[in-house]
Amino acid sequence: MQIMQSDLISAELRNRFKHASRVLVLTGAGISAESGVPTFRGGGNTAVWKGMPFDVISSATMVERDLPAVWEWFDYRRSLLQKLQPNPAHYELARWADVFQEFTLVTQNVDGLHRAAGSRDVIELHGSVWRARCVSCRTSYEIIPGERRPDVCVGCGGSLRPDVVLFGEMLPSGAFEIAAERAQACQLCFVIGTSALVYPAAGLPEIAKAAGAYVCEVNPEFTPLSALCDEVLTGKAGEVLPLISQ
Ligand code: APR
Repeated sequence: MQIMQSDLISAELRNRFKHASRVLVLTGAGISAESGVPTFRGGGNTAVWKGMPFDVISSATMVERDLPAVWEWFDYRRSLLQKLQPNPAHYELARWADVFQEFTLVTQNVDGLHRAAGSRDVIELHGSVWRARCVSCRTSYEIIPGERRPDVCVGCGGSLRPDVVLFGEMLPSGAFEIAAERAQACQLCFVIGTSALVYPAAGLPEIAKAAGAYVCEVNPEFTPLSALCDEVLTGKAGEVLPLISQ
């Protein structure tokens, strides 16, 4: 493993990290890459399920057309995720919640690894594969690893679908609005492991920057957001994040 040099972190960032009280973090698939979760872009091959591209099987249209097929795909994804563990980047962010007066963790990931690492109050913008939702009354149900997943709403008898934002769907109301408010108010904003191509999530660091926050990106590659950032830490999240608070 390449040993990251702590001088990767500027004195400016160390100082702001030490004195900030309001911090927002946005994460993407890259933060879970070191846990073995494939990212969506990069690495060339997009996931294909039974001949169907990822964005077809994971779409609102497919829920209407063939909900059992959608569940089969999500049951498969949960069976893979169940074997994976959070990595040092997830654990570091769980620790940050006790360091700052107001810490907001916003994720695009549906893998549940932030919660598994002990993070509380995670704003899961795109939902979670560990929840099901009633298609009629929108009641949400936890899916417990290793247990039979609920398939009918006990409240209204409606059928359940994955509680994940699928292709062709809007974000659930409320989640993004809270995140945007926190981005507006934060002093320090970290953008970790996202290609910053998918909006509105990618707009959060832009909101923070426009409101005067110091924005720091952590990614082995440059993204469309890099030019806007005050600091870009080029490396893997699991290796870079633990250096910041040292
Ligand atoms: N540490 C940090 N970043 C990493 C690492 C790592 N170990 N490995 C890869 N990355 C970076 C890649 O360089 C890339 O910029 O993570 C990013 C992953 O980008 P995407 O695969 O596009 O994932 P994300 O940005 O989360 O996608 C956003 O798109 O497909 C939809 O709903 C889906 O939530 C997803 C959204």
